[in-house]
Amino acid sequence: MRTLISLALVIIVPAVAGAEDGHAAWLRYAPLDGAARTRAAALVPDTVVTLGDAAPVLKARDELIRGIRGITGRDVRPADAMGNERTIVLGTAASFPAASVGYTIGQPLGRDGYAIESFRRGSAPPAVAIAGERDRAVLYGVFAYLRRLSLGQLTADLRERSEPAAPVRWLNHWENVDGTIERGYGGRSIFWEGGKVRDDLRLVDDYGRLLASLGINGLSINNVNANPVFLTREFLPQIARVAGVLRPWGVQVVLSVDFASPQKVGGLQTYDPLDPGVVDWWKKTIDTVYTSVPDLAGIVLKADSEGRVGPSAYKRTHADAANVIARALKPHGGVFCYRGFVYDHRMDWRNLENDRARAAYDNFKSLDGQFDDNVIIQIKHGPIDFQVREPASPLFGALQKTNEAIELQITQEYFGQGRHTVFLVPMWKETLDFDMQVKGPGTTVKQIVSGRTWGNPTGGFIGVSNVGRDPNWFGNHMSQANLYGFGRLAWNPDLTSKEIIDEWTRLTFGSDPRVVETVDALQLSSWRVFENYTGPLGLQTLTDIVGNHFGVSVEASERNGWGQWHRADEKGVGMDRTVATGTGYIKQYSPAVAKVYESVDATPDDLVLFLHHLPYTHKLRSGKTVVQFIYDSHYDGADAVAGWVRDWKTLEGRVDAERYAAILKQLEYQAGAAVVWRDAVARWFHRTSGIPDAAGRVGTYPGRMEAEAATLEGYVPAQVTPWEAGSGEGAVECKAQKCTATFRHSGQAGRYDVIVQYFDVNTGAARYSLRAGTAGRSASAAPDQSAASARQAQWTADDRFPTRRLDGASSTRFILPDVALKPGDSIVIEGTPDGAETAALDYVEIRKAGG
Ligand code: GCU
Repeated sequence: MRTLISLALVIIVPAVAGAEDGHAAWLRYAPLDGAARTRAAALVPDTVVTLGDAAPVLKARDELIRGIRGITGRDVRPADAMGNERTIVLGTAASFPAASVGYTIGQPLGRDGYAIESFRRGSAPPAVAIAGERDRAVLYGVFAYLRRLSLGQLTADLRERSEPAAPVRWLNHWENVDGTIERGYGGRSIFWEGGKVRDDLRLVDDYGRLLASLGINGLSINNVNANPVFLTREFLPQIARVAGVLRPWGVQVVLSVDFASPQKVGGLQTYDPLDPGVVDWWKKTIDTVYTSVPDLAGIVLKADSEGRVGPSAYKRTHADAANVIARALKPHGGVFCYRGFVYDHRMDWRNLENDRARAAYDNFKSLDGQFDDNVIIQIKHGPIDFQVREPASPLFGALQKTNEAIELQITQEYFGQGRHTVFLVPMWKETLDFDMQVKGPGTTVKQIVSGRTWGNPTGGFIGVSNVGRDPNWFGNHMSQANLYGFGRLAWNPDLTSKEIIDEWTRLTFGSDPRVVETVDALQLSSWRVFENYTGPLGLQTLTDIVGNHFGVSVEASERNGWGQWHRADEKGVGMDRTVATGTGYIKQYSPAVAKVYESVDATPDDLVLFLHHLPYTHKLRSGKTVVQFIYDSHYDGADAVAGWVRDWKTLEGRVDAERYAAILKQLEYQAGAAVVWRDAVARWFHRTSGIPDAAGRVGTYPGRMEAEAATLEGYVPAQVTPWEAGSGEGAVECKAQKCTATFRHSGQAGRYDVIVQYFDVNTGAARYSLRAGTAGRSASAAPDQSAASARQAQWTADDRFPTRRLDGASSTRFILPDVALKPGDSIVIEGTPDGAETAALDYVEIRKAGG
């Protein structure tokens, strides 16, 4: 009997590791299953021969051994020479001829390119060469080999050659020396703490490995809102330490600089880029940096933007500013990235001709041809600022004699931060594949930034990554797919979103078909879903743009100087950017593109309110009116996230327990947040337009009981700001030691999930207890939620949302599942405030259990 039971267990326990914290990301090298493993083990070599001893090549060897051991269980031995065993030979293209191993490269490999090719020497067993155009490209080849192995795609006859689309495949990190990260959601900096480099840089080493696996070759290690200390002599050894850890992975350090550095740390009276003293200062300073970091990849500069100083202080041009630093970098082979993100954030919103979207083009178009050849204009993918939907920046099509790079934001600033799952690759693909039609049809953004359209050699892809010390880097396992996707696109922008997510899912969670199908579908739909509940039709993300960029706040972008207006009033909504009646922004595109955008009927629905101001009753291409589309999309979006929770639950036992639970918790939070967004945006447009929802949902919430209408002891009414983030008339909060709100169930008898919508601000840890329903069979609370039975539960509001107010960011929910309720039963919530957190409540809602 004992034996039978353990046999049964062997059969039913799925083949997944017990716990994984996500740190290994897509480089887990998890063992392949059964037959796939046997097949793969038969193909891998017995020995590895390494040509030369450059650090990246040695890293490549160690990685190969590690990967093969993990994936197939086989040990590969390092050997000095090829013998009578199956061998992989690793080395740069230049090292192969002298080694006489019997493999010839033939056609030269492109810059940073690699070859993985089978060959045979005489009667010796088959061998594989992994050759790189330079040291780090050997690493790229090894990671590509291991990717194939993990994906079960290794074959006996290998013929793979690959080179990246562009030389610049960099990340920007917006890190401060005190250890904080601007717009970072995965914990504190892996580089800095307390004003200096961290003693322990093991996380930087782990990160370098992840980046090498994607072919990322540059990394700026400080905020674009730069601290000038980075250019002081005293600080250079710290930068050198970071560079020393990244170098073996082929990742070169990049610095962000403050344009006023000559004055702030150089002691000059001026930072005028045409002043000879300033020119000299940049030259000497950069020469000094190179003595500490001889392979510095370059410098990035944010100037004349959001309070950062720039050449306008001296009435100089952006080209004057860029060239002075670029010339200092030139002798060292350094590249200078000048950010195209230049705009005036104090614009008069009353003037209907003002338009922030025009700024990049207006600032740079006339300077085309005036930038040195090691200058790159680094252009955000859209004309505003990483909003949920924007057209491709017209600046991509405007410059012909200037290098360009596209800036993509991996960190999810406007995409729910670490809290929401949004796979950004489909959005990036839309921009990269967008045809600017500047040289006839077929001039896509990806071609332009790769330098192919106008023959500009130095361009590429720059991602704002901002990982932190959280074990899984981002605070959300699913967000890793965005870094992975960025790297894969920077190497090959022709890959499809589906190809990328499929690789990522298999590498990250294994190849169980149910897991792959579920995760792929969730990730691929997630951008559209997020857009549906946060800002469809080109409205941009309707978040608190003057605050945390996280919670809902429909009007935060209006009536201020930041220029993210969507101009909604009682009659209609949208920015008129037409040439005929609007800001003229559309004229910045090629005539072929402008023709489409100028016409309301031709403009895709997804962008229509970004480009046109329309009445709510206007019928879209989809056949719906504007306002009905807004209502429907918000309900669709929230329903979709609820569906993800159900889908994810089907994977229990198929994904390791630790990541399963963490992702379930994240998705459950997101499902609740999507409801807050749905109700807020739909109610705002409902109240403003006065037009009812054809489906009758907006304003009517079955099963919902507002806290302000409950029987209250101690609780008093409280305002939620913005109003639309609170249900009904607002919230209640407890200003006493303890308060009680009693709700009465007036519906039918049955089993219900009891949802408590409350506010969790970051100024304390209030406690709540809940008693609900009649005695019945016991049920357990959701996995992460504290002690619960069919009748009661307690929890603490100690999550860390970026707000101190009752608003769309602090509104969150607790669910007590499967409670038996009959008419007249009470649901009692007791709140105990803590510090400035007032145990505030918005509403209680009951829904059919498991619904
Ligand atoms: C956004 C972001 C800032 C950042 C800026 C930039 O506006 O909110 O934190 O500094 O972009 O890209 O420079």
